[in-house]
Amino acid sequence: MTDIPNVTFHDGHTMPQLGFGIWQVDPKIAAEVVESALNTGYRLIDGAYLYLNEAGLGEGLRRSGVPREEVFVTTKVWNNEHGRAKARASVERSLKTIGIDQLDLVLIHWPVPDQDLYVETWEAFIEMRDEGLMRSIGTSNFNADHLDRIISATGEAPVLNQIELNPELQQPKMRAYNASKGIVTQAWTPLGNGRSFEKDVLKQIAARTGKSPAQVVIRWHIQIGNAVIPRSIKPARQAENLDVFDFELSDDDMAAIATLDIGLRTGPDPSVFKIL
Ligand SMILES: NC(=O)c1ccc[n+]([C@@H]2O[C@H](COP(=O)([O-])OP(=O)(O)OC[C@H]3O[C@@H](n4cnc5c(N)ncnc54)[C@H](OP(=O)(O)O)[C@@H]3O)[C@@H](O)[C@H]2O)c1
Repeated sequence: MTDIPNVTFHDGHTMPQLGFGIWQVDPKIAAEVVESALNTGYRLIDGAYLYLNEAGLGEGLRRSGVPREEVFVTTKVWNNEHGRAKARASVERSLKTIGIDQLDLVLIHWPVPDQDLYVETWEAFIEMRDEGLMRSIGTSNFNADHLDRIISATGEAPVLNQIELNPELQQPKMRAYNASKGIVTQAWTPLGNGRSFEKDVLKQIAARTGKSPAQVVIRWHIQIGNAVIPRSIKPARQAENLDVFDFELSDDDMAAIATLDIGLRTGPDPSVFKIL
């Protein structure tokens, strides 16, 4: 079974650098997809209340037979549940729906600056973490100004910030900012919906290394130090996406992939996104 490297958070806890995302996994098949991912060797499942498949996450975890303590479970609090009381209710509901006693990591899904409740939500996260509802706390889609605010209000930085990041949106500034605060950068939509798979740069590296473009992209994430959470409902692709630890990209490969960055965001802009 693949040995997935761990990253260590500033709070001392560790997390697999490569995990498995379950956005858009139909709740009807979520349990079988999670079971398959765990049996393939993934040890991190990235969920969210918004994905409406937390029950399947828990069911897949139990069906897999992999001990709970070997699996890192992440969930997120959605935009309409910011604020102390609602954030707590959201985390308690996720624990119940997944059917576990403690979450490994909970993220504020988006900052939603318009409603201006993310600082209070972060304070609630610190309290819940201290009570043991979750082991670690983090953010998703936070820009530097949002992070600066929660850090100066509480003295505490998230352990991780999950952001849209792939070869066409390489986010060098956010990665540098996160690193400067000891925050792990975790890449969402890491494959960029396959948009770069047909680029010559990736096709040539894939041909030379005997890997697929998806594997080259995941390996690139690993080598620039990102945590990464690709998704596939297909067992063969789940295995393919995990099989990235037996080859290395050269400095020239990394420089060539760097040229693919066109700053193309396909998800919402965190500074204005406010869908509740
Ligand atoms: N925090 C946030 O706001 C946020 C936003 C978006 C996503 N996320 C998280 O990030 C995770 C990953 O992002 P994502 O699900 O958007 O996209 P992704 O992992 O970048 O790509 C998934 C898509 O690529 C296909 N695929 C997977 N492996 C492949 C391979 N080896 N070759 C060719 N195609 C492949 C999948 O199709 P098949 O399933 O058919 O294989 C699926 O259509 C999510 O599941 C979620 O956990 C977080």
